[in-house]
Amino acid sequence: MKPETAADHWEVEALYDTCFAPGREALSSYRLRDGVPPVVGLSHVARDADGILAGAIRYWPVRIGTTDALLLGPVAVHPTRQGEGLGGMLIEGSLSHAVPLGWSRVMLVGDAPYYRRFGFSLLEHVVMPPPTNPARVLGRALIEGAWDGIAGDVTRWTH
Ligand SMILES: CC(C)(COP(=O)(O)OP(=O)(O)OC[C@H]1O[C@@H](n2cnc3c(N)ncnc32)[C@H](O)[C@@H]1OP(=O)(O)O)[C@@H](O)C(=O)NCCC(=O)NCCS
Repeated sequence: MKPETAADHWEVEALYDTCFAPGREALSSYRLRDGVPPVVGLSHVARDADGILAGAIRYWPVRIGTTDALLLGPVAVHPTRQGEGLGGMLIEGSLSHAVPLGWSRVMLVGDAPYYRRFGFSLLEHVVMPPPTNPARVLGRALIEGAWDGIAGDVTRWTH
């Protein structure tokens, strides 16, 4: 697993196109990514011994009020490589760099049954732009208590 570089960009896009339904960029989470660069040092790729891309994970910064958070995703593993633990490796491996880089909380929009195993739970008071199913808005504190008292709309990160 290595940090994503500019040379990986289009291969990662192609992997996401393979792994997600067409129209993925219409999802509300993409509106939070428009015009904002992904987080350097956290977005990662996993390749096999021949250099074939097996999986990728990206992160964007977002805001909830004046609070910064990481938005995890997209994360995807090629259909021929799913179920080998690569998804978990990408999530835990990349997040292990987050605290040293100054981040204390991470959120995502996804399936609770999958992400629960990585310590994600419902963020009841954090609101993604519509249309988002609130039951899919999940978070994990990277530093104890980092989500305590955080509430409001998730907005695009600005300087
Ligand atoms: C979700 C994804 C990244 C998982 O990658 P992976 O390398 O297969 O995951 P792991 O090997 O770490 O974990 C596999 C386990 O997760 C389970 N799992 C995968 N997707 C799941 C989901 N949506 N809900 C519940 N469990 C899920 C598998 O059944 C398997 O369970 P097991 O360990 O009991 O056998 C991959 O399936 C994928 O790319 N899917 C399509 C894109 C996608 O949905 N991305 C996530 C967006 S929220």
